[in-house]
Amino acid sequence: MKLFTRKPKFKILFVTTEEAPFVKVGGLGEVMFALPRALAALGHEVRVMLPLYGTIENPSRFPYVFQGLEIPTAPNNEGKRLICNVRKFNSTNEPSSPVTTYFLENQEYYELRANVYGYGDDRIRFALLSRGCLEFLNVSREWMPEVVVATDWMTGYLPNFLKTDYRDCAGLESIATLFSIHNLSSQGTIRPSQFLEETEHDDGYGSIPDFFGERMPFVNAMRRGIMYADIVNTVSPAYAKEITTEEFGEGLDALLREKRGKLYGVLNGIDYDTNDPATDGCLAKNYTMKTIASRVRNKLALQQRFGLPQGENIFMMGIVSRLVRQKGFALLLPILGEFLKTTGAELIVVGTGDAEIMNMFQEFEKKFSSQVRLHLQFDEVLPHQIYAGSDVVLVPSKFEPSGLTQMEAMRFGAVPVARRTGGLADTIEDYVPEESKGTGFLFDDFEPNALLIAMTRAFVSWQYRSAWLNLEKRAMEKDFSWDRSAKEYSALFESVIRAKREN
Ligand code: GLC
Repeated sequence: MKLFTRKPKFKILFVTTEEAPFVKVGGLGEVMFALPRALAALGHEVRVMLPLYGTIENPSRFPYVFQGLEIPTAPNNEGKRLICNVRKFNSTNEPSSPVTTYFLENQEYYELRANVYGYGDDRIRFALLSRGCLEFLNVSREWMPEVVVATDWMTGYLPNFLKTDYRDCAGLESIATLFSIHNLSSQGTIRPSQFLEETEHDDGYGSIPDFFGERMPFVNAMRRGIMYADIVNTVSPAYAKEITTEEFGEGLDALLREKRGKLYGVLNGIDYDTNDPATDGCLAKNYTMKTIASRVRNKLALQQRFGLPQGENIFMMGIVSRLVRQKGFALLLPILGEFLKTTGAELIVVGTGDAEIMNMFQEFEKKFSSQVRLHLQFDEVLPHQIYAGSDVVLVPSKFEPSGLTQMEAMRFGAVPVARRTGGLADTIEDYVPEESKGTGFLFDDFEPNALLIAMTRAFVSWQYRSAWLNLEKRAMEKDFSWDRSAKEYSALFESVIRAKREN
């Protein structure tokens, strides 16, 4: 039976902890801005729901659509009630406007916190978001989605609630759920090493327990999301395969192998309007593939801005990243010094993260004061200047669900030096000079020498300037637009809704 005409349009709700420009910690916030917009451009009716954090300015610009929402915190509608309000941002027709967004308002759990993550009661905060969303849909009847997309462990509770506590709510029973994994390593549970007994391990069955009870810290919200959602996806095809193995499965590989039939990988995209070297107002010199030779003016400007010796013939490396273990920068520790000494290269690092990694870079900056510069804070403008001014960007990740920095860098003609894993493997093709093929430099083993070899290959290849310009052009030519990914998501929504309707 044919259920849909050729291009079905769906009502889709994303429930998430980040959405740029309202709040962004990492790539997730970027994706939650761009993907819903790309889906809306295909004709779907897309909305987003997230907490109203204290850092979101001037909330009164978002009118209330519901006040006094009472959210139960234990199974069977029991437990203490947490009271929330819901505000709504109406999307405007401007090209950069986010889609219509609901904000869940609660003083204690969101408004009074300066950060998005990192509190001892994060589980309660995000279980509240998950349950609050369903309670809002059920009580307010403001709007009813056909698909809810839950994201990472923070909203892994949601598909579970929908299939247990909200199972019999009229209108909600037909909602299909897609659970999106952006990072499998955080699961919302205390680490198995902290378990006292094997029985404390979460088997995933049953309702989410009392938010304030002693079971709650053991709930593995990532596992629950995977178990209860109708379809699971992650943000690149390679990572979708990797997470079914013990090496990348973070303890959930057996479950993911079992769910293989409903596990998909859809590569993230990047926003082509806001990532454009031809029009970017913050660059010293705009350029296209045709005028790529003038790109080097941005290197000189970058060196000047950071007070580094200026020269076209200095090999410039950039890092734009969250500085966390996942990103693999610890591999630089034993090799970077030698590399800087022998090549005279320069390195600029932008990002923030773990003290350990920031300290390592600070030591390098001290020792190589005319070659290394750091900007250990989030910055809106600098990343594009680095992509436009660097010869290479370094992305040696231990694992990488998708990765956005390599795609953005390539759009600006900076060549990635990266580990062949996850989304990096899906977006970068290793350089073969004899065949004038490839878009970057890949290495396999997660060890310092493998990275050093890739960096050295890049440095040597860079000496051959005309071949290098062609390499840059090939990187710029790649199409990582959201349009392609949004079409793949549409197909996923179609199958998840069909599965629901046919039941
Ligand atoms: C997470 C992943 C990263 C991905 C981003 C957006 O931050 O670590 O690889 O690009 O989510 O999906």
